[in-house]
Amino acid sequence: MTNTTAPDTVAMNTGAPAAGAAATTLTETVMDLAADRDAWLPRVRLDPSDRWYERLHRDGDREIWLISWLPGQGTGLHDHGGSRGAFAVALGVLQERDLGAVRDVRPGEARAFGPEYLHEVRNVSSAPAISVHAYSPPLTSMNRYELVHGRPVRLATEDAGQW
Ligand SMILES: [Fe+2]
Repeated sequence: MTNTTAPDTVAMNTGAPAAGAAATTLTETVMDLAADRDAWLPRVRLDPSDRWYERLHRDGDREIWLISWLPGQGTGLHDHGGSRGAFAVALGVLQERDLGAVRDVRPGEARAFGPEYLHEVRNVSSAPAISVHAYSPPLTSMNRYELVHGRPVRLATEDAGQW
């Protein structure tokens, strides 16, 4: 784990560790930020064409994203290119589906996952939702999948910058 590069976007206390410090867990980072309404509320945009997202922070160790979801908006099944991650819901409810379960994630709750994890996240509610996501190392690519007879088949690979 290295923390050698200067952040390129720092606009709030992201909970990212100082160089050499014991790593704040990704779950702690997203939970703390999601609970800090003054930090994210002024930044939120809602986009009827797709999820809206803004990168809040990036350093050599991790990056943090704020995402808003209107009803019906979702990710499709994807991985995180070998990064591990966590997300917390700040407002509303999101539904997460992995290869084994479907669950609702509500404010005050977070999900953490390892580098091999595949999931799909969607706002199936009738109200907007806001979430905070952290990835370590920072995302470099993502693979998109569809389920064929219950098994994930890779559809496409997207490099950082395409999303
Ligand atoms: Fe994801």
